[in-house]
Amino acid sequence: MIHTVPAEVLHLSPEAPDPQAIARAAALIRAGQLVAFPTETVYGLGANAFDSAAVARIFAAKGRPANDPIIVHSLGGIPEGVVDWSQLSDQAQRTAQALMAAFMPGALTLVLPRGARIPPNVTAGLPNVGVRMPAHAVAQALIAAAGVPIAAPSANRFAHTSPTTAQHVYADLAEHIALILDGGATQVGVESSILDLCSDPPRLLRHGGVPLEAIRACLRAAHLPDSVAVISRYAEGDSEPLSAPGMLLKHYAPRAALTLYEGADDAILRQALMVAAADITADDAKARVGVLLAAEDAPFFAALPMLCVQVVGARDDLEAVAHNLFAALRALDAQGVTHILARGFPTQGIGAAVRDRLVRAASGRVVRL
Ligand code: TXA
Ligand code: MG
Repeated sequence: MIHTVPAEVLHLSPEAPDPQAIARAAALIRAGQLVAFPTETVYGLGANAFDSAAVARIFAAKGRPANDPIIVHSLGGIPEGVVDWSQLSDQAQRTAQALMAAFMPGALTLVLPRGARIPPNVTAGLPNVGVRMPAHAVAQALIAAAGVPIAAPSANRFAHTSPTTAQHVYADLAEHIALILDGGATQVGVESSILDLCSDPPRLLRHGGVPLEAIRACLRAAHLPDSVAVISRYAEGDSEPLSAPGMLLKHYAPRAALTLYEGADDAILRQALMVAAADITADDAKARVGVLLAAEDAPFFAALPMLCVQVVGARDDLEAVAHNLFAALRALDAQGVTHILARGFPTQGIGAAVRDRLVRAASGRVVRL
């Protein structure tokens, strides 16, 4: 759907959004329209989750294939008809309760049996539905005012980098949606972790804002089994797309070709990036190289003004790296780079999500040193 007028942008306080602006957005949701809004992870593109025609507009606006299911966002619990709890084993129900108490609201999505009020296009025909409760005042106010759960994928064009600012949403979707709620930059910066509780043991389908270590610690504290099957959606160095919905390797992709360098100490990583950048520009005079660095690397690259440098944070400040990652990729695209060379970061905690997004942005081009 192409709108004749580009999306309207309403600026809101991320802590205390103006109720009148929220009421306008909620009225659009109830009328079956789309509204982009901030969550603590990334911006979402929302529609009434109970309205299959509204959900169809999400797929059209994003250019998203119909086999990619959409997460349902709720507030203060999971509304009647969203999840069919009777389809879940007792242990899985206890697991869901423990995780909801610990991480909702927050950056965790649980995959649970689909309830009767969720139309099939929300789950791409799957018997299970992803649910999450966002920890962001704008998202919460919108859900409360709409009075319905909100189905929302990340508010980017399909397979593009997820948006962490309203400007990113505008750049991707302005011609396709009516309204964008601008609550500033999102805090976490990578999407929610997705845990499927419909299999035993539970399966981690996506690393995200809630680290796997925290999920397992929560299960242990609740005296529940803490084993989690981590679904590797890509084999190491493999560029085959995967069969499961929404799990394409080439996801979160900037326009430029990205290569990820990892596995060595900082000095060797820097050296490898510099040599690769020199090789690329020697081969092709029109090539423009961007480098994605840690703060510690920046001084070493200061003498190379031909490179477009993006610093995402101190090497061990993985929260900052996650927060800045997608904006850095978009900034390099905006500078017109043809190649991006990215260094790896430590992979514990939210670092696992950072690595996952970088490997996808690289379409599997990972150089291990
Ligand atoms: O942080 C987030 O999760 C953001 C914000 C907006 O909430 N949303 C988000 O949605 O990242 P999206 O659609 O870009 O990614 C959701 C992923 C997709 O890869 C989809 O395949 C998976 O979640 N998913 C959703 N429902 C599912 C289901 N029923 N079973 C398996 N995977 C599911
Ligand atoms: Mg997405």
